[in-house]
Amino acid sequence: MQQSEQEQQKEQEIAQNEMPDLIVNPYEVVNNSKKQIDYDKLIQSFGCQRIEQSHIERIQALTQKPVHHYLRRGIFFSHRDLNQVLDAYEAGKGFYLYTGRGPSGDSMHVGHLMPFIFTKYLQEAFDVPVVIELSDDEKFFHKSETTLEEYQRYGYENAKDIIACGFDVNKTFIFLSSKYAGHMYHNICKFQHAITYSQLRGIFGLNESDNCGKVAYPAVQAAPSLSSSFRHIFGKDEVMCLVPQGIDQDPYFRMTRDVCYKLKVPKTGCIHSQFLPGLHGFGTKMGTTDPTSAIFLTDSPKEIEEKVKKHALSGGGMTKKEHQEKGADLTVDVPYHYLRFFLEDDARLEEIRVQYGKGVMMTSEVKKELITVLTKIVTEHQQRRALVTDEIVEKFMELRPLSNYPPKKNN
Ligand code: TRP
Repeated sequence: MQQSEQEQQKEQEIAQNEMPDLIVNPYEVVNNSKKQIDYDKLIQSFGCQRIEQSHIERIQALTQKPVHHYLRRGIFFSHRDLNQVLDAYEAGKGFYLYTGRGPSGDSMHVGHLMPFIFTKYLQEAFDVPVVIELSDDEKFFHKSETTLEEYQRYGYENAKDIIACGFDVNKTFIFLSSKYAGHMYHNICKFQHAITYSQLRGIFGLNESDNCGKVAYPAVQAAPSLSSSFRHIFGKDEVMCLVPQGIDQDPYFRMTRDVCYKLKVPKTGCIHSQFLPGLHGFGTKMGTTDPTSAIFLTDSPKEIEEKVKKHALSGGGMTKKEHQEKGADLTVDVPYHYLRFFLEDDARLEEIRVQYGKGVMMTSEVKKELITVLTKIVTEHQQRRALVTDEIVEKFMELRPLSNYPPKKNN
């Protein structure tokens, strides 16, 4: 168990070569099949663990709240050391949540919200502090499409969308890594000291002509995993960290955990989500270059309706007759898959799965239901975001203690 995760990395590289249809790393997610990614294979090749029913029951028992549908439905499906984090919580030592976003532009789509919606649920359920990194530096080094100042501005704009997910200002600290790094530079140094260039090259595929920022950055994403990076919140306490993230971010945290092991501090816990596919089907991406590929947080109800109707790939039969005979192929159907992510009502989702799968329900009906669900989510998000002023963003970014640390004794 404590064996070096570098070995797992090697195994992963080998396994990835055996999965030509699938590339998953922080800078590239390619799924060349028409179906959902084989997440079991991914777990195996990354060397993480599946979230079991026993974890879900444990979270439910500890929080005394119904668990989020992302957990119930296996959308957050994999982890590292989740039980150790829950042990710390149970022992009254608490833990904190760390997640982030690379602010690559002004417009976020519904898929971008997933880690934040989930982190917000965990914050409420466990009543633990949250820290959120906006890695403007990462995007500057990797995308290099505009100035650092512009990536900082995207960071502020994205912070508004993140805040609109409902984070509690007294329990949440948001920072731009280009501005905050000085406060955690001691930890950045430790990571940079412990990682060699050749390791980085293996993990992130860097080479000699890449700018130095790309080489230096992984330590900046790793450092917030140590509570000593946030003295204003944790003082000198050593507090365990849990990182909700898309599974593509795991290479960063495999690297982080390897260094934690060397530094003899508790390894960062991870909890990984699946990807929301683009509207055009599994194996397609969401992006600003093709606005029909995704539902953006700025979309109007009319745009949402048009995108779902015209562009969401259906697994239904070509003709009504064929559909009624064979039913819908749910393994490729985007509207149904989106409902798994966005429709909270389990009973209704199950009904749709059965009826649509049998061909009793038509694609148009499923799409109609998805349009209703998405329109509600997006318009409510827009209303909350409109209330987030620059002053509010500044408050979230202020260096200050958080009200729920240290944890109360009675959990
Ligand atoms: N690298 C992430 C991205 O490109 C952003 C990020 C920074 C992050 N710190 C994180 C994501 C911690 C998850 C957890 O979007």
